[in-house]
Amino acid sequence: MDKTLQGFRSHIIELGYSYFFAKSLLTAVKLDLFNRLGESALTAREMARKTSCNPRAMELLLNTLVGMKILGKRGIWYNNTPLTREILLRGKGGCKTRPYYVGDALNFLNNLWEDWGQLEESLRKGRPIKQHEMYLEDRAVTRSFIHAMHNTAMGHAELLARVVPLKGVKTLLDIGAGSGAFSIHFCKANPGLRATLLDLPKTLEVTREFVANYGVEKRITLLPGDYNKSLPKGFDAIFLSHIIHSEGERENLELMKRVYKCLNPGGRVMVQDFILKEDKANPPFASAFALNMLLYTEKGRSYSFKEIKGWLEEAGFKSISWPRLPLPRDISIVMAWKPTSDRVSLRGAKRRSNPLKRLLRSARNDSQDASRRGIA
Ligand SMILES: C[S@@+](CC[C@H](N)C(=O)[O-])C[C@H]1O[C@@H](n2cnc3c(N)ncnc32)[C@H](O)[C@@H]1O
Repeated sequence: MDKTLQGFRSHIIELGYSYFFAKSLLTAVKLDLFNRLGESALTAREMARKTSCNPRAMELLLNTLVGMKILGKRGIWYNNTPLTREILLRGKGGCKTRPYYVGDALNFLNNLWEDWGQLEESLRKGRPIKQHEMYLEDRAVTRSFIHAMHNTAMGHAELLARVVPLKGVKTLLDIGAGSGAFSIHFCKANPGLRATLLDLPKTLEVTREFVANYGVEKRITLLPGDYNKSLPKGFDAIFLSHIIHSEGERENLELMKRVYKCLNPGGRVMVQDFILKEDKANPPFASAFALNMLLYTEKGRSYSFKEIKGWLEEAGFKSISWPRLPLPRDISIVMAWKPTSDRVSLRGAKRRSNPLKRLLRSARNDSQDASRRGIA
């Protein structure tokens, strides 16, 4: 076997085995193993007692987690590493003391496990095996979904707030805001900014708690609503994060038309999602996420920049761009402007090319800084 084939073969077989590691981590989170360890060191026998598991089996799991560099081990004692504490311990003050916690997101992924087991069935039928709305009907499920979304958003919300150009923007509408993580950080980074968070009423009950925790409630308005029906008017900027992947092409075109109408002249829209290149295969997380949406929606999937640009152009937007920001899981943002008038928009497009270059440069520096500090 030549070296290239050998390398590719190993990569493929390791990919097949990779769920051993994923499910070990997800099961440990489900057993609340990291919080039970906390700042202490425990033996496998002690951890087995705390989690009602078999001691021999627990030792096997703990050793796997040590091998994955998630736990430390000294003799027969296991402990959380300093980095593990930052992201897998809940912290007494919740998101105030452990802002980069990922346990809710991992618990949510563990809940998707059974659904991904039905991928073959979904592929044969071309239909979802569950409806996405399930996350939004039951209060407890909505809560765990929004907490999971908060964990994932916090991977780059602070970075985004530093690099997205919101100078001079006074009013922002965050459509389908979830926990409000992005708007909270936009407000923190831009003292003159006020944000309106539009979401479904049950979600907003959870959003309210996050907004209060970050102490920005005076500059944030929570607005119950349905983005598929109507939107409030009079905003300088509109942010849609992880919204379009749940909807079909027609619904997204109609949504962009509504967004256009509710922006002030000269206002901007920012669409954040797992955005695909023209081949619809790359970046790979975006194409895999489209498959995830097959499991839960009739028409949802990841979209390419070309598709998003098409809806924005049809809605009337100009100066549409796709700045490549180094964000986790290949998340990216499409930006577009509503012209003040046709003439002004042409001049505006030229003026805006430089801020975007600056934004990219600054994002690269910030992201290197963030990954050095281990938070991205
Ligand atoms: C995938 S989450 C994204 C949350 C947030 N934007 C983020 O990026 O973290 C989708 C959000 O859209 C909200 N949502 C779903 N359907 C909606 C609708 N028809 N009208 C308003 N909000 C909706 C959900 O409650 C949820 O908060």
